[in-house]
Amino acid sequence: MTAVSISDYEIIAKEKLSQSAYDYYSSGANDEITLRENCEAYKRIFLIYRVLKDVSKRDLTTEVLGNKISMPLMIAPTAFHKMANESGEVAVAKAATKAGTIMILSTLSNSSAEEVTKASDGNIWFQLYVFKDREITVNLIKRVENAGCKALVLTVDAPFLGLRERDVKNKFNLPDGFTVKNLEPYYKEKLSLNHDSGIAGYFSENLDPSLNWKDIEWLKSKTSLPVLIKGIGCKEDALLAVQYGADGIVVSNHGGRQLDTCRATIDVLPEVADAVSGKIEIMLDGGIRRGTDILKAIALGAKTVLIGRPVLWGLAAEGENGVSSVLDILRNELDLAMALCGCDSVSKITKDLIAK
Ligand code: FNR
Ligand code: LAC
Repeated sequence: MTAVSISDYEIIAKEKLSQSAYDYYSSGANDEITLRENCEAYKRIFLIYRVLKDVSKRDLTTEVLGNKISMPLMIAPTAFHKMANESGEVAVAKAATKAGTIMILSTLSNSSAEEVTKASDGNIWFQLYVFKDREITVNLIKRVENAGCKALVLTVDAPFLGLRERDVKNKFNLPDGFTVKNLEPYYKEKLSLNHDSGIAGYFSENLDPSLNWKDIEWLKSKTSLPVLIKGIGCKEDALLAVQYGADGIVVSNHGGRQLDTCRATIDVLPEVADAVSGKIEIMLDGGIRRGTDILKAIALGAKTVLIGRPVLWGLAAEGENGVSSVLDILRNELDLAMALCGCDSVSKITKDLIAK
C-alpha cells in the first residue's frame, strides 16, 4: 500500500509493531473517550473559505519562541522510539531537521540527548519529568543543556500515569536491551517489573507527584533555558502559567492518555487563547491528523501544533523516511488547506475562517 495519509501510516505501523508496542503507542486512558474526542472534535468544526485572494504562492513559515520553523508543526515528546525502529529518536531528530522544524525529546527516550542533538542542527527541545530525587532532576537538566537542547518543556499532567488498560493486560515493559538512556547514570533506566504496567510503575516509583506551581520558580532557578508548561487543560491554569513565568504553554491532555473524559484540546484552546491574550505563546497537541486540523488550531489561537502518534506511525513504517513522509503529508495538506481558504501566509489564518 502507498501511504497517502496519516491513517494509512497507522495501518502499516500496526502490521509491523508487536501487539504490546502498538497498544502502548496507540492507547488512551480507561474508555479512551478523550483519545477519540481529541480527533472527533475537529470534525465538528467547519471552515469558511474565501476566494479570489491570489494564493499562487504560500508561506508556511512561522516563529516559535524566536525560532523560525518551516511550518506551524513540531514533534511532540513521546517515549521509547526504539520500539518503533532501531534508529529510534535519532531518526526522528534527522527527519525534524530535514523538515526545518523542532523535535521535543522525551525524558523517557531510548537514545541519549547527546546522540539526538548531534544528529540534528540544534532544533531539539527537552521534555522534562521531575524525579522525586531532585538531584537527579537537576543533573538531567544540566546534561541536556550541555548537549545543546534549546528549551525545557515541563509536563504537568502526569503526577501519576493514567490507567491504560491495554498496557495492564499486556504487562507492558521495554523489550530487552532498551533503556531510559538519559537515566542510566542514576540506575533509573529500567521499568518496574513489579507492576501491571512497567511504565505506570516507573512513574509511581520515580516521578514526583508533589510537583506544584511553586516548583516552576525552582525550575527556572535551575536553568537558563526557556521553560514551557505542557498539559494545560483550562484557562485558570493557563493564567497561572503566565503568573509563574512560563515562557510558553502547551494545551495538551497527553493525547488522551491521562484523565479520561477531559475535554478535547481544540475545545479548550479558545478559552485559553482568550485568557492569555498574547502574553505568552500557546502550542497545542492531541488528535492532529490532517492539515485542516492544524489550520483550525492556528485559527483558534495556537502558534504551532505538535504531533505525537503520527510520528511513531511513520517511524515504525519506514524509519527516518517514514517520519519525513508524515511531516510532508501534513505540510502539503496544510498548504492546500491554506490555499483553498484563501490564506497565503500563516498570519492570515484567523478566527474568521471558523464557522460559528
Ligand atoms: C506520549 N506523550 C508524552 N508526553 C510527554 O510529555 N512525555 C512523554 O514521554 C510522552 N510519551 C508519550 C508516549 C506515547 C506513546 C504517546 C502517544 C504520547 C504525549 C505527547 O507528548 C502528546 O501530548 C500526544 O501524543 C499528542 O497527541 P497525539 O498527537 O498523539 O494525538
Ligand atoms: C506516556 C508517558 C511516558 O504517555 O508520558 O506513556
